Amino acid sequence: MKPIDLVLGIETSCDDTSIGLVERNGFVRAVVSANQDSVHQPFGGIVPEIASRNHTLQVLPLVDECLRQAGCMWEDVDGLAVTNRPGLLGSLLVGVVTAKTLALSLDLPFLGVNHLEAHLIAPFLRDTQFTPPAQFQFPYVALAVSGGHTQLYIAHALGRYEVLGRTLDDAAGEAFDKFAKMIGLGFPGGVAVDRLALGGDAKAFEFPRALATQNNMDFSFSGLKAAALRQLEKMTADEVESQKAALCASFQQAIVDSLLNKLDLAVRTAGLKTVVITGGVSANSQLRAQATEWASRKGLTLVIPPPRYCTDNGAMVALLGAMRMNRGEVSSQTMGPLARMEPQEFGGGI
Ligand code: KG4
Ligand code: ZN
Repeated sequence: MKPIDLVLGIETSCDDTSIGLVERNGFVRAVVSANQDSVHQPFGGIVPEIASRNHTLQVLPLVDECLRQAGCMWEDVDGLAVTNRPGLLGSLLVGVVTAKTLALSLDLPFLGVNHLEAHLIAPFLRDTQFTPPAQFQFPYVALAVSGGHTQLYIAHALGRYEVLGRTLDDAAGEAFDKFAKMIGLGFPGGVAVDRLALGGDAKAFEFPRALATQNNMDFSFSGLKAAALRQLEKMTADEVESQKAALCASFQQAIVDSLLNKLDLAVRTAGLKTVVITGGVSANSQLRAQATEWASRKGLTLVIPPPRYCTDNGAMVALLGAMRMNRGEVSSQTMGPLARMEPQEFGGGI
């Protein structure tokens, strides 16, 4: 079989349209993305129908732009990868149809990949500005923390993942977004909370760290959300306004403490020295700073990919496609999108 050296990855599972061109060794030649935040902002959340319509407008111009930025022609591309599960069905469909059409017309192999697995292997990506530590390899403990997911895994090897814990209710990103909405910071609000929290006292308000004393690796953020709402109801609009930074810092600290508390337990349980934090929330500056300090205190190798590879992106999809296609996997034209993945994937863990 001819090696698949350069893969074009297509990511449209939610509201970001992103295309990446990645070598099988993880080197990113180019990644280009368009987010739809401003389109969904007036609705306070993602409207699936609007998301898929925007993907149809953006996907092909982004494919062209990605090839242009990488200085590549179609003849240089050996395969196509596309997120086909899990996600919003209409959004996934746009990527899947695009990949299948390109594969058919250009006579290229293509593979549908799992979005969560793509987040898990994102730390293998590298470019001229970022290289993971030389010793980074499977197995590792991974915290995948985004708007839709908050899970702890052991990544034993490519395709072998063990779920250690997960959120029982909201994802951490969802909690950030809901809190941001409560205090009028718009949608999605994680970044805005992060930014405001920089100037605030994280001890000003007492927010709960759910399940902290329990010897499991699950998360829960609904109690935190309710506590924040109760706190806000006790305050006047002027008080909220003047204490926004402290509210953000205290809320953010509660999430970061919960995440790191369970991550620490996961590392001890797994007996591993390599840790990955990935997904959109890993862009959070307090989480990054505190995790880095924790890892160095514990003598762990911690990899948090740069934000461009933590949020939804086509590069992680391309790399996962390259890894799997070089094991001989390919999809057929009958492949469709799946809103939910098969229960047996990830050992039935999600
Ligand atoms: O992985 P992602 O781009 O999309 C999926 O959910 O799959 O993650 C988006 C989530 C949103 O909830 C957003 O508010 C959150 O990541 N987020 C942040 C930060 N940047 C993005 N949350 C906290 N601090 C940030 N700096
Ligand atoms: Zn994601």
